[in-house]
Amino acid sequence: MTIAIGSDHAGVELKEELISLLKEMGIEYADMGTSSPASVDYPDFGELVSEAVLKGEADRGILICGTGIGMSIAANKFPGIRASLCNDLFTAKMSRLHNDANILVIGGRIVGQGLAREIAKVWLETPFDGGRHLDRLRKITVIEKKTKRQ
Ligand code: RB5
Repeated sequence: MTIAIGSDHAGVELKEELISLLKEMGIEYADMGTSSPASVDYPDFGELVSEAVLKGEADRGILICGTGIGMSIAANKFPGIRASLCNDLFTAKMSRLHNDANILVIGGRIVGQGLAREIAKVWLETPFDGGRHLDRLRKITVIEKKTKRQ
C-alpha cells in the first residue's frame, strides 16, 4: 500500500508524526508537502493528494489542516474521493468499514499526536465491509455523475 500524505502549515507537525508512523508500519508514502510552518492554502495540498489517489499513484491518502474541515471540503470536490474527517477512533473505523473512505482527514489543531497516531493506525488497518455498503457507494457515484458541472 502507498499513502499520499499532505497538509497545510497548521498540519505540518502532525504530518511529520504520521510519516513516522507510516515508516514504523512499513507503509510506502509520498509526502506532497507542505514542508514548513510558512502559511499556505489548504486546497492546493488537498488537490495534490486527491489527484494522486485518483490517478492510482497512491492507494489512499491522508490530509491534515487545522480543523480538518477545509481539507475535507476541498478533497470531496473530486469525484471518486471519499474523504472522512476523523478526529476519533470510532469514526475512523466506521469510515473504512461502511464508507470505504479513501482519504483520512485529521484536524491538526484538534487532535493530539498520540490519538492521531491511533486514528491513522485503525484507519490504515481496517478493511471495507462491502455488501450493502457497496450499493450506497454506487449511489454516490450516480450523484457525482448527475451533478457534474462544466
Ligand atoms: C489555517 O489557518 C486554517 O484555516 C486551516 O488549517 C484549516 O483549519 C481550514 O479549514
